[in-house]
Amino acid sequence: MVDLVAFGLGASIVLSIVALHYARGTGWESSQDISQEVLERRAATVVETDFPEPMNRSIGGGGGAVAAVGGADGEEAGELEGEDEDSMSPADIPEDEVEYFEIEYVKQGETIEVANNMTVLDGGEESGMDLPYACRQGQCVSCAGHITNGGNSEDYVVHDNQQMLDDGELDDGYTLTCVAYPIADFSVETGEAP
Ligand code: FES
Repeated sequence: MVDLVAFGLGASIVLSIVALHYARGTGWESSQDISQEVLERRAATVVETDFPEPMNRSIGGGGGAVAAVGGADGEEAGELEGEDEDSMSPADIPEDEVEYFEIEYVKQGETIEVANNMTVLDGGEESGMDLPYACRQGQCVSCAGHITNGGNSEDYVVHDNQQMLDDGELDDGYTLTCVAYPIADFSVETGEAP
């Protein structure tokens, strides 16, 4: 009797497993792909602007930015070119545009012609004069001289970055010969500092 019950139980379990094994599922279907729909709906909510959307920066915004930067560069280049012209040294005057001026070196007793792309110091030295100097960069007064024609020394020379003489000293006719390029005829006493 007990064995029959156990057999019946075992058989029903086996049958259940077999039935489950062969039973067909309800069939799973993936839900509808709504990603495109969601994207379109989101796109519709974006406000229309004249500016490129963030995702378009590489197309529009980036290009615009580059153009803007390019424009700024252009302006900068223009400014720099202007600055270059302003800061152009008389030493850069090309040979075919050079003018010559007569300079009397009073203490040396010599009068020579010096090109306007050459300093008063260089011009004298090229003619064999032994003139005082130290830095040759307008940063000391070793090469100072006094233009004796009267008036401001800058009526006769252009100083290319002299850093030592103040306006009053220039007014008195003093010059730094190492950075002074002639723009007129004049007489100069070298070795004369204010
Ligand atoms: S040598 Fe120094 S300023 Fe001329």
